[in-house]
Amino acid sequence: MERYQFVKDHVYGSFQKIDNELLRTAAITHTNSVDNCITLLAISRGLSLELAKIAALLHDFAQYTQNCPHKDHARLSALYGHQFLENSKKFKMREIDEITYMIGQHSYKNHIDSPMCELLKDADVLARFMEDPYQMFTGSKKERLLNACADLNS
Ligand SMILES: [Fe+2]
Repeated sequence: MERYQFVKDHVYGSFQKIDNELLRTAAITHTNSVDNCITLLAISRGLSLELAKIAALLHDFAQYTQNCPHKDHARLSALYGHQFLENSKKFKMREIDEITYMIGQHSYKNHIDSPMCELLKDADVLARFMEDPYQMFTGSKKERLLNACADLNS
């Protein structure tokens, strides 16, 4: 997990520099929460833990560090992640493509993608639930939450 730690140091180091305290706290809390949820789900689904956790670290990066419009945040986070991971020279192109495809697709909660994409979407929904268990989940988010809980139980 040396590569995970490398990405984590960079991501949390960047979050520490966010001036707006609310945004900084949200960045750290939500990213950590998705990282924890994806760990449990990746193990229960038998998917790559390392790539999953790295995708979780970077999945909302642009939202928090660039404060970009929400509709652009997945694409911009994927673009940033691609450049960052490539520059690090620690990853194969196939791994970078997989991680950044997951990030780029993660807003499309109504669509079914590859298992790794689905993993990040479900971890994102589960994390939001754990951050506020009293909020209402409907439609595909509710379905994802129930599926994720069922996977963790099996
Ligand atoms: Fe997001």
